[in-house]
Amino acid sequence: MSDIRKIVILTGAGVSSESGIDTFRAEGGLWEQHRVEDVATPEAFERDPDLVLRFYDMRREAIQTKAPNAAHLALARLDAEWAGDLLIVTQNVDDLHERAGARRVLHMHGEHLSVWCTACDARSRWTETLIERPPCPECGEPALRPDIVWFGEMPYRMDDIFAALEDADLFVSIGTSGAVYPAAGFVRNARELGAATLELNLEPSQGTGWVDEARHGPATQVVSDWVEEILGPPR
Ligand code: OAD
Repeated sequence: MSDIRKIVILTGAGVSSESGIDTFRAEGGLWEQHRVEDVATPEAFERDPDLVLRFYDMRREAIQTKAPNAAHLALARLDAEWAGDLLIVTQNVDDLHERAGARRVLHMHGEHLSVWCTACDARSRWTETLIERPPCPECGEPALRPDIVWFGEMPYRMDDIFAALEDADLFVSIGTSGAVYPAAGFVRNARELGAATLELNLEPSQGTGWVDEARHGPATQVVSDWVEEILGPPR
């Protein structure tokens, strides 16, 4: 670790699963309960906005009842104490990294606690429901949609992510199945750009062939152990 200064971390649903938030692809996971095409595409929103808004209203409400777990806390500690560059790119749309105290977080798939006005393009923080078609806080139009990147839409801040990957000395993939691109390709991109690569996941992910090292176990354990290895025991 002595030559590592710039770290990029990619997190997925597995980091929040021990907080009680369903992952997507597990048996009984979110995409077994709902079809992606029904709730997570722009076409679905056009076809049946009530169904889509209700789905995200429920998720938005649910995440607010959950708390960060030891993995979020360990990553927040790394963020606070790591003097070099660090970027936590999360595919998660919950706010548990932030509530644990992490600051250097980029939500590439959007956020449950944000809404996007399709009339004026403004984004606003939002903790309530959308099913009643409330007015946009900026322009007053009832044109708010969840600020979530749906299938077929471009993830956020790809330029910033690639700039960080280009510079990274270490890329760490945490709690993600490696099934959804472009995030699933980051491990390969990082490796080809010269970074060391590490996977921390419950089981081998689809990207496991691209990592220098993989440690398998629950995030609360493997992430906490890894951060403690880097920083030493908490003071
Ligand atoms: P997945 O549900 O595809 O994968 C979750 C991964 O976390 C799996 O590899 C699990 O083995 C692992 N896992 C589960 N519990 C864990 C634990 N306690 N500790 C460590 N690992 C654990 O979720 P993502 O990879 O995040 O996109 O899914 C990527 C994207 O697909 C999501 O952001 C979402 C979804 O469709 C959008 O909604 C745009």
